[in-house]
Amino acid sequence: MNLNDVKEAAAFLQENIERKPEIGLILGSGLGVLADEIENPVSIGYKYIPHFPESTVAGHKGQLVAGTLEGRQVIAMQGRFHYYEGYTMQQVTFPVRVMKALGIDSIIVTNAAGGINKTFNPGDLMLIDDHINNMGDNPLIGPNDNQMGDRFPDMSKAYDTLFLDHADKCAERIGLTMQHGVYVGNTGPAYETPAEIKMLRAFGGDAVGMSTVPEVTAAAHSGLRVLGISCISNMAAGILDQPLTHDEVIETTEKVKEDFLRFVKEIIRTLPNN
Ligand code: HPA
Repeated sequence: MNLNDVKEAAAFLQENIERKPEIGLILGSGLGVLADEIENPVSIGYKYIPHFPESTVAGHKGQLVAGTLEGRQVIAMQGRFHYYEGYTMQQVTFPVRVMKALGIDSIIVTNAAGGINKTFNPGDLMLIDDHINNMGDNPLIGPNDNQMGDRFPDMSKAYDTLFLDHADKCAERIGLTMQHGVYVGNTGPAYETPAEIKMLRAFGGDAVGMSTVPEVTAAAHSGLRVLGISCISNMAAGILDQPLTHDEVIETTEKVKEDFLRFVKEIIRTLPNN
């Protein structure tokens, strides 16, 4: 990760954004609609931002949207970069570094995920308590820039306990039931086999997806306060007797959209300053 590239991207964005963002948002498959709720938005396509890769997946827009949400300054990634698209881990996590350079202190990372835990149902929202990096790679491999973070960052509280408590209270206040669990990050792009899902369950996984782990690793390294939310879009392979499709993932996120929006807005509205 080249700090100069990060600074150049941040400087470009600063010229276009009026106020310093305090909260970053990474919006997963089908969840990008949250960015449409941002007031006085400044939207900047990734292709215009120096050193940014471009996003390619259906259901992902590929722009940063900065503005006001529930009275707070936010910056949202509408669409993210996936390792399976062929980007390096450094590219996947580049936007996290840039948002940090812009001044955020908290980040909410969202995704669509397959439910490994058999007590889950498609349409559930899961707060991520912890993750398992099953991607065989790590964005922190390579020379470490001490200005960005420690060589060997602690991951024991990558998902901030107070942030999780806050999210739980918000869910309760607006009448939503949250699942909690461990998110497993796989590379994809193939969905898992039933045997892999059995193994991941035995390993302690509750949900599985193809993102989030790199960004949260970089965020933890950067000293950001992290909240992770999975939308359980389908049951993982082998649980139900039906094939997995990206269409099902998008269909389910579409159904949960309203709850998801209400939830994240309540979290932001009432988030204590760091
Ligand atoms: N597996 C991996 N990634 C996913 C899934 C899944 O079942 N659903 C949504 N993203």
